[in-house]
Formats: sequence, C-alpha cells, structure tokens
Amino acid sequence: MNPDLDALHPYPFEKLAALKADLTPPSALTHIPLTIGEPQHAPYSAALAALVAHQAEMGRYPATNGLPALRETIANWASQRFALAGLDSERQVLPVNGTREAIFAFVQAALDRARPAKVAVPNPFYQIYEGATLLAGGEPLYLDCTADNGFRPDFSAVSPDTWREVQIVFICSPGNPTGAVTPLEEFKQLIALADEHDFIIASDECYSELYLDEATPPPGLLQACAALGRHDYRRCMVFHSLSKRSNLPGLRSGFVAGDADLLTPFKRYRTYHGCAMSLPLQHASIAAWQDEGHVHANREAYREKFSAVTDVLAPVMDFPTPEASFYLWPAVPGGDDIDFTQRLFVEQHVSVLPGSLMGRPGRDGHNPGSSRLRLALVAELAPTLEAAERLRQLIERG
Ligand SMILES: Cc1ncc(COP(=O)(O)O)c(C=O)c1O
Repeated sequence: MNPDLDALHPYPFEKLAALKADLTPPSALTHIPLTIGEPQHAPYSAALAALVAHQAEMGRYPATNGLPALRETIANWASQRFALAGLDSERQVLPVNGTREAIFAFVQAALDRARPAKVAVPNPFYQIYEGATLLAGGEPLYLDCTADNGFRPDFSAVSPDTWREVQIVFICSPGNPTGAVTPLEEFKQLIALADEHDFIIASDECYSELYLDEATPPPGLLQACAALGRHDYRRCMVFHSLSKRSNLPGLRSGFVAGDADLLTPFKRYRTYHGCAMSLPLQHASIAAWQDEGHVHANREAYREKFSAVTDVLAPVMDFPTPEASFYLWPAVPGGDDIDFTQRLFVEQHVSVLPGSLMGRPGRDGHNPGSSRLRLALVAELAPTLEAAERLRQLIERG
C-alpha cells in the first residue's frame, strides 16, 4: 500500500473516542454531544422533494461537469451573494460531492510533486487539508491562529524563502473551529501575495451562510477578486456546500468556482476519478441554491442558540465573540483541554472536542488548539442550552 497512508493522523473523533474509552458517565443524565459538526436542524424539504421527483434519473450516468441548469443556478447564486460581475457557468463553476471530497481531490490535482510542495493551512484546522496534502506528496505548513491574531493566520510572518515553496494556501472562513471571519481587505492582501509568490488560494467557505448579523454576511475570496477587477479569478478557487447552509450533509453536494485555468485540469482529474454527482442530487441541489428563505430561517435558529448559550457561558468562560459558523471556541478554565473534556463527560455526560485534537504544534512547538474547546451548537435549542448549563455547573463547582 501507499506508504504515505502511514503519515495520516487518526481523525479527531477517533482520538476523542480513545480518551473516553475507559470513562463511565453518570447514567442519570442523558448524553449531550457537542462534538460532530453535523447540522441537526431539518433538511430543506423542497430539496428532498426534488430528489424523489427525479428518482427515475438514477437510471442514467451523470456527467462530471454536472447539468448546465445546476451550474447556471450556482453561478447566479454566487454572483448575487458575492457581488460578482459574473461567473461563467461553463468554465468557472463545477458541482462537487460536498467540499470534503473536493478539497481532497483539488490538492491531488493541483500539487506539483516535482518541486517543493508546501501547503499552508490554518492551525487549528479541518483535518482534510492536512491529509490531502500528505497524500499528494506535499508538506503542511501550519499557520497558528490565536487570540493574538484574531484567530486568523498571520501571513506576514511567512518568510520569502518559505513562500517560494508554498504551492497552495488554505483559508477557512468562517473558520472551523474558531468561527473567525476573514475580512475583505485580508483576502485582497492574500491575492497580492499569491501573485508575488505564485501560489493558489483555496478558500473553504462552507460556513459562509451561517452568520449572526444579518446585515454583514462574511465576504468571500471571489468577492475580493471582483472588488479588485480580477474577473478571471486568477489563482483563486472557492469551495461551497449545501451541508450547513441547507442542513443537507447527507446529500453530499457543493461546488467549486474560480480560475478556469485551474478548473479545466481539475475537471480532467475528476473525469478519471469518477465522482460525478447523480442526477436526482443535482435537481435537489438546484432547488436548494434557488431558495434563500430556508437559509434565513436556519440562521435565525443559530442566532437564538448562540444568544442563549453565550448568556449562560460568558460569566464563566472566555471566547471570541461568535460572528459566524456554528462553533464556539472557548478557553478552558485551568487550561487543560483534555482533562476538562474527560471531567465534563464523567461528571455531566456532555461530550466536546478538545481543541488540541484539531491543531498541531506550531512554530514555537505549542499547539494553538490546546487549552480551548470546540463546541458545535448543532442540536436543537433545548439540549444545547442544557449542555451549556451543565458545562457552567462543572466550572462553578471548580
Ligand atoms: C471547514 C470544513 N470544510 C469542509 C467540510 C466538509 O463539508 P461537506 O463535505 O459536507 O461540504 C467541513 C465539515 O464539517 C468543514 O468543517
């Protein structure tokens, strides 16, 4: 087998299961998991109806490019959402089976193994960036995201010598696990760096539609391109998904969009990889991208939850003010995220993800995820609030 497989880290949830394996939680309390980022709100029903209405099309092979109607729907959605002058649905858009596989596949297609192949990733981070890099023969460059830099990578700290070896920079905005949002100006600065040092920007924007202030949606990479008059989106690729926006993680539907010079070879790769989206899923996706009402209602539900949970936790925990995504990223009182996670499970039957499992030791040897927790506020309001109250009890008890 490919020896690079041995370089892959166990997934954070495997490590968490091992940490909890010998622990006995109180049976009198129901278990409340705040661990996996799987939305529990109702899936968008019109998308499910479209799936059923088109089920007979399971009898046909889909094309890698997807249906023109889906690509046009996506191009219209993205143009409107990110104030683009336009997006060519033939050349600049491609449906994918969720952002996870697309991120993984894009790195395989994009990385040139014949020269140094560093891939910059935010630290802590969504683990696929790292796994994709290792399996493509590249080397992850971890850029720490701490309170000091607003939980966003500090690109000015990367030396010109290092930049020379970087082929791809991953941005995750809104961020998992921190919820941090990259401002438009920072996207523009990164584009200037990409031109200077000749790298690709891969912007994972799968949480872009979950934001708390209805008046300020998070900006995106293509929006920054458009603001710069860069309508060919050179060196830029964005990754979007229906999983969080429309509560359809099982549909496996998203899209990539951006530079046609990157998308054309990526399509060639995907033709061989064999990952076209089935036709009923494409019709369901069209229904979802065409509707904003359900997305608005989804945001309302998260807003209500964030407000209730932060009211309970703010007196006892320190966390960045949530702006977007469905995660809270509090500092652990006492500083030991592993110990706290285990005590919370044993005493309160609540599961959270220790921040250190999502990070790696950075430049100074310190893991910027340690001493924080990732709380995924994905369940309905009542259990989420109950979990927050149990967390507070544990802290108040000391
Ligand atoms: C940052 C980030 N990117 C990508 C994904 C993958 O999402 P999907 O493949 O469902 O679009 C996730 C899922 O949790 C995520 O947190």
